[in-house]
Amino acid sequence: MASELKDGLARCSEIFQRARRIVVFSGAGVSAESGIPTFRDPGGLWTAFPPDQFANWASILRLVSTDPVLLANFLVALLRPIVSARPNAAHLAIAAIEGKEKAVTVVTQNIDGLHQSAGSTTVIELHGSLFEVGYVRSHETWPVSSDALKRVLQSMEQFCRDRGSAAAFMEAVSPLYGKTQKGIYLPRVVLFGDFLPERAWEDASYALKKCDCMIIVGTSQVVQPAGSLSELATSHGAPIIGIGPEPIQCDAWLRGSACEILPRLVEAMPPV
Ligand code: OAD
Repeated sequence: MASELKDGLARCSEIFQRARRIVVFSGAGVSAESGIPTFRDPGGLWTAFPPDQFANWASILRLVSTDPVLLANFLVALLRPIVSARPNAAHLAIAAIEGKEKAVTVVTQNIDGLHQSAGSTTVIELHGSLFEVGYVRSHETWPVSSDALKRVLQSMEQFCRDRGSAAAFMEAVSPLYGKTQKGIYLPRVVLFGDFLPERAWEDASYALKKCDCMIIVGTSQVVQPAGSLSELATSHGAPIIGIGPEPIQCDAWLRGSACEILPRLVEAMPPV
């Protein structure tokens, strides 16, 4: 093991001696090794589909009538990796921290549900989930199954081949987006210009104010307000462990991929 990593893990081991309440703050990098591209790395989702066009509801809804094929291509790029993804060694390692007699809160920006699939029990989804839809003007929500998402994906692929109409697009995407007497329903995902879900933000803030260690993994932290959550940990002296290929502001940075580092980090935790 490289000495840089060895030293970093030794520092983390000291931190874990005292830490009882741990917050794991994750981003797209934690799911990268499950085959889901990140947003801002080379080849990331925003490279082919710029966020000013595809990450706000006004633009997306405009595309339904102006260029549904382009929108369908975006949905294919978004859904295809997620519907077939399985939790990776990093998600599983995060879930395993709970077995070390630690209270673990996962605060994620990801919408792929993989932390829950891996067995993490307290997961706060700051940017929502692709597996839930709800009305724009009410709190009524309902789940979307993985099979339903797969069917939407297949319909979108077919739609791209047929180059169909806006009406055909609406039919194909109806498990995720449509209109009933109660109004318009959409996926419960947060896009630019949206408020974060209030409860998720409050719960995440509370967990960070109370934690005695924060682990940041796989996020560029450029999107606000999520990117500033670490300030709540540092404001009361909770040490921060950073994991990823790029250095971040933290007390111990472990260079490497999430799947390479997180299992080692769990090994470095003191035995219960
Ligand atoms: P980004 O694409 O901005 O950043 C991904 C981070 O993961 C980068 O810091 C990479 O260096 C790192 N990374 C890549 N591969 C990794 C690996 N195998 N292991 C560990 N780290 C790796 O993704 P996020 O920070 O999650 O929001 O993006 C935040 C938000 O921006 C998303 O939730 C989404 C997006 O716009 C909205 O759309 C509102």
